[in-house]
Amino acid sequence: MSLAILFSRAQCGITAPQVTVEVHLSNGLPSLSIVGLPETAVKESKERIRAALLNSRFEYPTRRITINLAPADLPKQGGRYDLAMALGVLAASGQIPRASLDQYEFLGELALSGELRPIHGTLPAALQVREAGRSLVIPMANGEEGALIRDLTLYPARHLLDVCAHLSGASPLSPCAHPSSTALETSASYPDLADVSAQHHAKRALEIAAAGGHALLMIGPPGTGKTMLARRLPGILPPMSEEEALETAAIASVSGLGFSPQQWARRPFRAPHHTASGPALVGGGSVPAPGEISLAHNGVLFLDELPEFNRHTLEVLREPLESGHITISRAARQAEFPARFQLIAAMNPCPCGFHGDPRGRCRCTSEQIQRYRARISGPLMDRIDMHIEVPPVPPRQWRDTQREPLASSTDVRKRVIRARHIQLQRAGKANHLMTSPEIERFCRLETNGQHILESACERLGLSARAYHRILRVARTIADLEEAEAIATNHLSEALSYRRLDRKTGYY
Ligand SMILES: Nc1ncnc2c1ncn2[C@@H]1O[C@H](COP(=O)(O)OP(=O)(O)O)[C@@H](O)[C@H]1O
Ligand SMILES: [Mg+2]
Ligand SMILES: [Zn+2]
Repeated sequence: MSLAILFSRAQCGITAPQVTVEVHLSNGLPSLSIVGLPETAVKESKERIRAALLNSRFEYPTRRITINLAPADLPKQGGRYDLAMALGVLAASGQIPRASLDQYEFLGELALSGELRPIHGTLPAALQVREAGRSLVIPMANGEEGALIRDLTLYPARHLLDVCAHLSGASPLSPCAHPSSTALETSASYPDLADVSAQHHAKRALEIAAAGGHALLMIGPPGTGKTMLARRLPGILPPMSEEEALETAAIASVSGLGFSPQQWARRPFRAPHHTASGPALVGGGSVPAPGEISLAHNGVLFLDELPEFNRHTLEVLREPLESGHITISRAARQAEFPARFQLIAAMNPCPCGFHGDPRGRCRCTSEQIQRYRARISGPLMDRIDMHIEVPPVPPRQWRDTQREPLASSTDVRKRVIRARHIQLQRAGKANHLMTSPEIERFCRLETNGQHILESACERLGLSARAYHRILRVARTIADLEEAEAIATNHLSEALSYRRLDRKTGYY
């Protein structure tokens, strides 16, 4: 029987469904046809397989070759099936043994010479190969990435011939080892919060935002340290769990940016420019690819100059901000990507940037200022838990802070970890994710607090959503103090992080 069956993996979102590659040789006019919903790049495999086999001095069967990629309803893209198909032709024509093929899965694109070219999405594929209980053969260039999956037998190979020599037992490939965990953990290093002088209010807000996972908007003129602060958020967030690290890595792996092991367990920081297109931000493309919000999964999405972003694009952020994932539909194709990012945004107080500057450099009219602010829609603002002012620092304060030692990211992170631990114990999630019933349960106020909050809401004309946001932030402030109940000082501090709710004027 001239039939060979091999296993490979497709890519769909961050999953890698199994693909069975069946190769059949029959009598008839010499030809090669690939069936099973192959797209253009897969159809081009024909030429690569033929050239690679001939250049590796194998015999190209002068028979009718049929390759079926199953399941047929799963779209197949790219050159990732080349290796499995070429090996299938060799096995079906008796040039390599067929017996042990079912213990492996094969991924890799062939160069005409027979060399193996890297593919996208090694990590999710490797994870699922392990679950299937097989070994994985991949291009050498993907080896480091695949090795991040522990307890998987992984064979990186340079050339089709090396894989054949392995399968025939002539010269086994050496398996790639999982890197030791210590080598991975030390790789995390971020810019330090101690680099930021003064701005105590902003640093405190950043700590609270980190502890509860709250979205934060910073308002202030250019050069006051907003970007500096945002970049320091990943370094004060709790360390990633293995599961989080895997998911974040899988997204980078399928994105085409690729994943380098140095990024392992590092919280991503993504800062797309305000001219970024909708698909670049949320994901898209004919083959759905993750966007910035997914690349920021388990990390920070920084939107600098928030009012300059396309309004429609910003609206799309609302759903993932609540659900933590995004579904991309393109024609008949759908893919879902995780997108649990922490949103940090920055904006100038007015179009020229100098509103509130003591030297009075701002010439913007109040109408212009209103219009500028109105570019950010109410519903998006409603989803941002904290708004703070990052004002220019008078030179005298600079000098003062130079004398006192500044809190380092390491110190702040310790407090954040403690506060986050309390949240996970209590509700199984960070405070920013608490639902209304959970807020009712965990953010109860005493009579006095209830009174303060109600009158503030009335005065500021706050929505029910904003009311809940204040309670979530107050809960986090109490958690940082390891306080059981939300006290009035926690509540008043939470209220102070709602700068933009004030109906009158800008600040
Ligand atoms: N609080 C601060 N502490 C130390 N340096 C600062 C501070 N604020 C601003 N700087 C300096 O000014 C530069 C610009 O800061 P940046 O964060 O880009 O400001 P913004 O984003 O608010 O426009 C920084 O690179 C840094 O050198
Ligand atoms: Mg900036
Ligand atoms: Zn102005």
